[in-house]
Amino acid sequence: MSVREILTYPDPALREIARPVDDVNSEALKQLVQDLADSMYDAPGVGLAATQIGVPLRVAVTDTRWREEDGERDLKVWINPEIIRRAGEAIYEEGCLSVPGIYYDIKRAAEITLRWQDMEGNHHSADFEGFQAVALQHEFDHLDGKLFIDLLPPIKQKLLKKRLHKQKKMQE
Ligand code: NI
Repeated sequence: MSVREILTYPDPALREIARPVDDVNSEALKQLVQDLADSMYDAPGVGLAATQIGVPLRVAVTDTRWREEDGERDLKVWINPEIIRRAGEAIYEEGCLSVPGIYYDIKRAAEITLRWQDMEGNHHSADFEGFQAVALQHEFDHLDGKLFIDLLPPIKQKLLKKRLHKQKKMQE
């Protein structure tokens, strides 16, 4: 078990565009996925992308069920995910382990079609909707260096980012 430090805004590493994983069957990838899961459950959160622990690879984990359903875990691992269809609109209140204590309603697609690989390198494709679709869009934005606060209206976003920069400076 290895809980890694989760980077917080405005850490520049959160803006990196992650590169695809070529060697799916590697020991290093298994370790990365284990660390992501350990760090997500420890936080606790419903999702964590590799970018958030400073590893710019297209890997994320989610578990959108375990907090609701008697603590039973339902870990999902997403390698090289690609959203190939978005439809409809859904608004959910979002938060992020990299922007602690901040929650806003964010508008995203209500349904997505996703392609991804599993730990054995097999390719999958499936449709997702509701909270899971929103959580996946949030996590995969991290792999492109994007945060949920980037989706706020410009003025709100500017004020919030200013406040977060100031907070971070005071912590240092
Ligand atoms: Ni996040």
